[in-house]
Amino acid sequence: MPIEIRALTPHIGAVLTGIDVRKPLTEAEVAAVNAGMDRHAVLVLPGQDITDAQQLAFTDNFGPQQAGANATMRAADFRLDPTFADVSNLDKNNKMLARDDRRRMASLGNRLWHSDASFRVVPAKYSILSGRTVVSRGGNTEFADMRAAYDALDDETKAEIEDLICEHSLIFSRGQLGFDEYLPEEKETMQPVKHRLVRTHPSSGRKSLFLSAHIGTILGWPRPEAMSFIRDLTEHATQREFVYSHKWTQHDLVIWDNRATMHRVRRYDDLNTVRDLRRTTTKSDGPTVAQEAA
Ligand SMILES: [Fe+2]
Repeated sequence: MPIEIRALTPHIGAVLTGIDVRKPLTEAEVAAVNAGMDRHAVLVLPGQDITDAQQLAFTDNFGPQQAGANATMRAADFRLDPTFADVSNLDKNNKMLARDDRRRMASLGNRLWHSDASFRVVPAKYSILSGRTVVSRGGNTEFADMRAAYDALDDETKAEIEDLICEHSLIFSRGQLGFDEYLPEEKETMQPVKHRLVRTHPSSGRKSLFLSAHIGTILGWPRPEAMSFIRDLTEHATQREFVYSHKWTQHDLVIWDNRATMHRVRRYDDLNTVRDLRRTTTKSDGPTVAQEAA
């Protein structure tokens, strides 16, 4: 079956057909996915009815895997293999989380524009999200093109932001929603990490804005000034022309490049309908900036 890629918007997102994710990929297939990702930053592979093991094997083609971001969960509560990020509204007994469950509170941070694992020293490269059970109303995942957003800035702004460094932490993103119920050991693992605000993609060579709801300040700036500027940049970067909104069909497999995009999930009725998406994630090449010794 020939591999075909069809763009979904002028900037971002494409549908890729002609690959069966249940089978080991050939070198040519891996190369086609990587080339499609460098161009479109988000690829939708429809009709991929896969198991967890098949998803893990597929993910291995694209770099070392990053463990799931279930930072407010105890290992005993995991529903899935801990390599996965559990993007569902279910507990380990497959029951929907209660309205006031702290795991639900924490996951509501996914409704803010973010880049996966930007709160880690080595942030994410690809996120690979499998739609096992999808909802018919709401729950779209939206993607914004941080390369196109960077390109559209004026030269003065580009010069001003070129060497800025931001601090990222889960505490900042969840704090925006008023969530702060952390255990002391959780807080310990959520120390802010530093990242460049402008990064260059290693294979496409394109510059992009490394924005994320996890940002809590810009180094050397008064915090309110930093956060109002980050808010302005985020508003600029998530204008409709830079966004692809994905409505899920069961067995969609969606891959996005966190080095070139932000994403968010839209609201859905998570108290009454089951949504079970499972994410695997690969690591990017390394830190975007040197970190101080702890
Ligand atoms: Fe995410």
